[in-house]
Amino acid sequence: MSLIINNLSVKLDHTKILKDLNLEVKSGEYLALLGPSGSGKTTFLKTLAGLIEKAEGDILLNQTSIMKKPSHSRPVSVVFQDLRLFPHYNVKENIAFPMKLKKMKDKEIDERVSSLLNDVRLQGFQASPIHKLSGGQQQRVALARALATEPQVLLLDEPFSGLDEPLRREMGQLVHNLHVKKNLVTILVTHDKREAVQFADRIAFLHNGDLVQIDCPKNVFDHPENEYVGNFFGQLNRLKVIEESRKDWLDMDANVKVKDYIGKKIFVRPIRVDVKKERKESSSNLILPAQLTHFIEYPEYVDLKFQLINSSEQWSVNILHQSLKDYKVGENYWLYVNHEDIVSFE
Ligand SMILES: Nc1ncnc2c1ncn2[C@@H]1O[C@H](COP(=O)(O)OP(=O)(O)O)[C@@H](O)[C@H]1O
Ligand SMILES: [Mg+2]
Repeated sequence: MSLIINNLSVKLDHTKILKDLNLEVKSGEYLALLGPSGSGKTTFLKTLAGLIEKAEGDILLNQTSIMKKPSHSRPVSVVFQDLRLFPHYNVKENIAFPMKLKKMKDKEIDERVSSLLNDVRLQGFQASPIHKLSGGQQQRVALARALATEPQVLLLDEPFSGLDEPLRREMGQLVHNLHVKKNLVTILVTHDKREAVQFADRIAFLHNGDLVQIDCPKNVFDHPENEYVGNFFGQLNRLKVIEESRKDWLDMDANVKVKDYIGKKIFVRPIRVDVKKERKESSSNLILPAQLTHFIEYPEYVDLKFQLINSSEQWSVNILHQSLKDYKVGENYWLYVNHEDIVSFE
């Protein structure tokens, strides 16, 4: 199974919402689609599912274009954020609905409903009215209904965003298990970075209708395409444009390619900074003098706040709680950054 998207563009109300998107999703791939609100994520999923008529470009499933196929004959299912369950139908009637449209036999429908309820761990819920179910259970029904026609591509538009954290984790795991079991191509729209990083083989980042980066989670974190993507994935320490005249105080070893960064802003993740009391020679580090001004203790880590000396910038360094005893507010330290942990953009 392969899904190839070529030069896909969508114009709504004379505005280009999706701009020449190109994407090749591999067989069995789980892709997280990220991007700010209004970037075109829902429009993209709807276009794949055939719910937007005025699309240009091509969508190929197994080397065959599905662009001209109507929504119901594409092997693509969507679970929307609002689920869109039929409130007056019970669980079985909801799940059976797309199978009835396909004119499947009653016996086959019964069997498949049972098997799907088993998949989403709602055994025996056939006759339950939708309004009697919890939010998490309703999501399972929506998921079962999406899988009822045995799609090859499953699209999920932030379906778990209304759930509390433990339930969201559980649903994420359930979807991933089903993704593997049914050998699907899955595209999950989420704004939860952890959810994206946890399950996705790759992350596609959409911004203003452009796919600005498609890469594995680690690369998006360590090598974001631009400052916007970088900040979306968590805090970045920044250092203003390095000028020729600032080379010296930067203390970057002459052997290190400081020239690479002249004229650029550079960024460093708070977990990629090492703090030392003593200044040591190092040929592979950016070394910055800084004063510890305060720190914030989070349940998982401590965020040390430093004022860079010779610069107006403030930097964060994330450490584990047990290391906190090594630090004193008001004292000066040296911040070390490995050359390969420096992020810079043109
Ligand atoms: N039917 C429509 N007609 C005109 N503009 C639309 C329509 N649907 C969405 N848009 C616009 O397209 C942009 C992308 O919307 P959407 O795909 O919903 O983004 P996202 O899901 O990333 O929040 C938004 O600026 C939105 O206002
Ligand atoms: Mg949306």
